[in-house]
Amino acid sequence: MTGQPTGTTTILTGIKPTGRPHLGNYLGSIRPALALAQTGSAYYFVADGHALTSVRRAGQLRGLTFEVAATWIALGLDPSRVTFYRQSGVPEIYELAWILACSTAKGLLNRAHAYKAAMELNQRAGHDADADINAGLYSYPILMAADILAVDADIVPVGRDQQQHIEMARDIAAAFNRTYGSVLKMPEARIQAPVQTITGLDGRKMSKSYRNTIPVLCESEELHRLVMRIVTDSRRPEEPKDPEQCNVFAIYRHMAPQEEIARLRRRYTLGGVAYQEVKEALFQILDQSFAPARERFANLMADQPGLTHILETGAAAARARARRVLARVRRAVGIDAPAIHNNQSMRLTAVTP
Ligand code: TRP
Repeated sequence: MTGQPTGTTTILTGIKPTGRPHLGNYLGSIRPALALAQTGSAYYFVADGHALTSVRRAGQLRGLTFEVAATWIALGLDPSRVTFYRQSGVPEIYELAWILACSTAKGLLNRAHAYKAAMELNQRAGHDADADINAGLYSYPILMAADILAVDADIVPVGRDQQQHIEMARDIAAAFNRTYGSVLKMPEARIQAPVQTITGLDGRKMSKSYRNTIPVLCESEELHRLVMRIVTDSRRPEEPKDPEQCNVFAIYRHMAPQEEIARLRRRYTLGGVAYQEVKEALFQILDQSFAPARERFANLMADQPGLTHILETGAAAARARARRVLARVRRAVGIDAPAIHNNQSMRLTAVTP
C-alpha cells in the first residue's frame, strides 16, 4: 500500500534554520540523529518553510538555510547516504499540507503548545490574544505533518519539545485515514532524551535563550574565550572536588575518551586539580574534535553553488517519493486526473501522464 521497499525503515527529521547550533544541540540532537540515519533510509531537511513563520528578511532566511545545511554536512551528514534537502525544494509538501488542512479539526490546532504560548504572551501583555500571530504559525503542525506523511516516514527523531507536534501529525493522519481509507502511513516519534542535559557556561542548561552557549563550529580564539568563561566555584587546586558539581567536567565527560574521563574523575576526588588546567584540557579536546568540521564548514560556505547542488539533488529524490504518496492522496480525495480512473461516466480522452 505504501509503495516502498519492505524492510527499510524511513527516518525523517526537519531542522529549523535558527542560527549556529551549539554544543548542546550537537550532543543532544545532531549527533544522535546522524547515528540514527545510518540505521535506515534517512530523509533530513532544512525546514525553511517553517522558518518563514518568523524570519522576515529574505537575505537572512537564505543565509540561515545555507548555514544550517553546511553545518550538518560539516558535522558528518553524508548527502550520498542521507536524502538531504530544503523543504521548499519539495512543493508536494505544501500541496499535501492543504489537503490535510481540509480534514484537520481547527480545534486540534488551538491546542498546540507553541500557539497557546504565543497567545498567553499576548494576553499577559494586555493585547488581543491573536495579535501578531500569523496563520502560518497557527498551521505549523499541519505543515509538519505534511513533511512527515509526504515520504511515508516510519520514525521521526525529535527533542521532547516536538513530541506534541508528532502526536498531532498522527492525529492528522488518523483523521484523514478515517475519511478516505488507509492511505497515510502512521509515523512514530523517537524522542531523543539526552542522558543528561548539556550544561552551559553558567551551569544552567545550555540554551540560546540563556545566552550561555558554546557554538559548535566557532573559531579557536572564541572557543578558548568561552571555555575560560565557564563558571566554577572557588575551590583551590589542592582541595578535593566533586566532579558531578563541576560545569567544566559536565561538558568534558561528553567529549573525552572513557579512560580520560575516569582518570580526571579520580583526580577531582583526590585533590590537586586546578580549574584552569581542566578548562585548557576541555578547550584542547573541543578544538581538536571540531577542527575538521570547521574546515569543511568554511569550504561549503565558500561554495554556495556546490551546496545548492547537494540540496537540489536531495530534493529531486524526495520529490520522487512524495509524488508517489501524493498520487495516492489525490486519488483518495478526488483531485486526480479523471482519466487515470478509467471511469465509464467520464468520456474524456485519456491523458497519459
Ligand atoms: N518543528 C521542528 C523544530 O522546530 C522542525 C521540523 C519541521 C520537523 N518539520 C519537521 C521535525 C518534521 C521533525 C519532522 O525543531
